[in-house]
Amino acid sequence: MNYIFPKLKQKFKNDDFISEKIYYLVDKLTNEANLEKDEFLYILNNITKKEIEYLFKASYNIKYTYYQNRVYLRGLIEISNYCKMGCKYCGINYKIKTIKRYRLSVDEILECCKQGYHLGYKTFVIQSGEDSYYTDDILIEMIQRIKKEMPDVRITLSLGERSKESYQKLFDAGTDRYLLRHETASRRLYNYLHASFMSFDNRRECLKNLKEIGYQVGAGFMVGSPTQTNEDLVEDLIYLKELDPHMIGIGPYLCHEDTELRGNESGTLSESLIMVALVRLILPKVLLPATTALGSLHTIGREKALKTGANVMMPNISPTENRAKYEIYQNKICTADTSNQCRNCIEGRIAGVGHVIDLGVGDHIDLERITDND
Ligand code: SAM
Ligand code: FES
Repeated sequence: MNYIFPKLKQKFKNDDFISEKIYYLVDKLTNEANLEKDEFLYILNNITKKEIEYLFKASYNIKYTYYQNRVYLRGLIEISNYCKMGCKYCGINYKIKTIKRYRLSVDEILECCKQGYHLGYKTFVIQSGEDSYYTDDILIEMIQRIKKEMPDVRITLSLGERSKESYQKLFDAGTDRYLLRHETASRRLYNYLHASFMSFDNRRECLKNLKEIGYQVGAGFMVGSPTQTNEDLVEDLIYLKELDPHMIGIGPYLCHEDTELRGNESGTLSESLIMVALVRLILPKVLLPATTALGSLHTIGREKALKTGANVMMPNISPTENRAKYEIYQNKICTADTSNQCRNCIEGRIAGVGHVIDLGVGDHIDLERITDND
């Protein structure tokens, strides 16, 4: 019998009974958008290839109900690989000596946005290591200049943990959304994966603050990270259900051999897709990217995510010469491509699995209605 989450596989004698129970739990989840902790765990511990197709179909159908086969595009700009943090899995953490550091000026960032705008993107995701160079003043200038030149776009920042005051100022300057993956909802795993000066509680506090301020908030987690258990993944589902963010980024852990977690196995495609499907079912309207990490793990990883329940893609619009330096994991896709090439590539991939590009701003569906009624 082929278990999808092999780390914790258990032996059962009556396969049919297991299938029946999993079908029942998937139906219950589809109808109620939630399960008990032990029910989630039962799925993760026992699901096999037999039931996985059923789960993926349920997840796809729910996505279709709200977003049909539309895929929102966000132009991703990786503005700096300087980082003061110590995520042990991350290839740009402060200890890594093997990469050349770079950062983009506000002029360079604006240039990327203009190129992205020309390619039709209406959302820019501005991401970076935790780089103190980007003070509130510099970021406010950046945000105001982008919004002045392109008033109809949404700005998403993903710059890591900052104070509530800083988040407030960036929001007031015109930022619409903020992505801050919670990484894992398990305190034990968080502490294992991060330097001792980093704080599980502070990361959660940041997410709480971002929501209170009024951002469209993105959380998210890695699947298959070293020592992660199915119980840890259930914690992620429970935390996300409670936090109720607008976006959730889910990607496999991909081992980087220059980090202190070298030598570990990476997460797998099936594990990651199962988590994408479960998240779609607990938060039916959430914006779910088919992540670059999924595309780096498997040639058609992102397409499979679209078929499973994802509805967002983030083509890279960073300057090509910097891309390889933002090496959070090895064998990252798109590092030699131009923004134009990524645009064409993504368009082909989306069409290839019967989806269509939506070049709107791509707000969460509940917020779309608020805007429409304004
Ligand atoms: N500094 C910001 C932050 O901490 O939120 C944003 C940049 S950070 C590099 C973006 C995301 O990359 C992290 O949230 C993490 O989940 C992911 N990441 C980092 N290293 C990874 C790895 N080795 N495999 C998979 N994902 C990784
Ligand atoms: Fe820099 Fe994780 S170590 S974002």
